[in-house]
Amino acid sequence: MTVEYRCPICSEPLARDGNSLGCANRHQFDYAKEGYINLLPVQFKRSKQPGDNLEMVQARRAFFATPHYQFLQHALATLIANQHPNSVIDLGCGEGFYTHAIAEALDENCSVYGLDISKPAIKYAAKRYEKPNFSVASSKDAPFKEACANVVLSVFAPVFAKESARLLDEEGTLIVVSPGPHHLHELKQKIYDDVRLHQAPECPDGFNQVEQVLIQEVHAIETDVISHLIKMTPFAWKFKPSHFEDLSKQPHHDITLSFLVTQFKKSQ
Ligand SMILES: C[S@@+](CC[C@H](N)C(=O)[O-])C[C@H]1O[C@@H](n2cnc3c(N)ncnc32)[C@H](O)[C@@H]1O
Ligand SMILES: [Zn+2]
Repeated sequence: MTVEYRCPICSEPLARDGNSLGCANRHQFDYAKEGYINLLPVQFKRSKQPGDNLEMVQARRAFFATPHYQFLQHALATLIANQHPNSVIDLGCGEGFYTHAIAEALDENCSVYGLDISKPAIKYAAKRYEKPNFSVASSKDAPFKEACANVVLSVFAPVFAKESARLLDEEGTLIVVSPGPHHLHELKQKIYDDVRLHQAPECPDGFNQVEQVLIQEVHAIETDVISHLIKMTPFAWKFKPSHFEDLSKQPHHDITLSFLVTQFKKSQ
């Protein structure tokens, strides 16, 4: 089983021709110089710049340059390598931090694909990481043929149940990483009077939950690094200059980093 791209316009298989992919209906897509392929036709874009913008991508990259999320990166790569897949698709892969580690942990003949709707994210990913195949596209209408993946992964990214089920083969696993109940609790306490705990993800339609583990560590994180971390969160806009001033009174803060890794199989 191999992952094959399909045309985002007519769903016919895409075949490589030099530096392009084309279908039988003469729709053609060119590889960018960084090595990714843009399979998000202009007419399918809901906004001019869908997905994470450059500032968010750069904040994530600056944060990932520190060791704080390496324990999740390592746990995911190990979990997936132990399943011995031939094909993995990382949906909403961002700048490829996890996609890259997974590709490194798997043997040569396993194909790893990373897809994101954000062009700046994929540009960064493809420029830096050689092994995975990166594309700009939407996970809601992923440009891959049916049942081509053993593992579909979503790390802090939207999950589209029907499309994930279409991509997975019968025995395939959908792995969803979401915030654990106390993820970034200390930061949220700075901005909310009543901090709500994160809930476990709902089981996507057409799947059964087969396993769930909580991976959690408390790290002393430097205040400068925390500002990158905040920019990666949905509550970044809540952090006012006064909150940052408050944070900067200490050189570092203990922050809970907590992740739920949930595995689902297709219900038969
Ligand atoms: C919180 S980020 C996580 C990125 C990456 N998985 C990580 O953990 O570093 C969510 C990502 O989902 C992407 N995204 C949002 N909607 C999407 C869609 N419909 N299709 C593909 N990617 C999408 C965003 O552009 C962003 O890169
Ligand atoms: Zn086509």
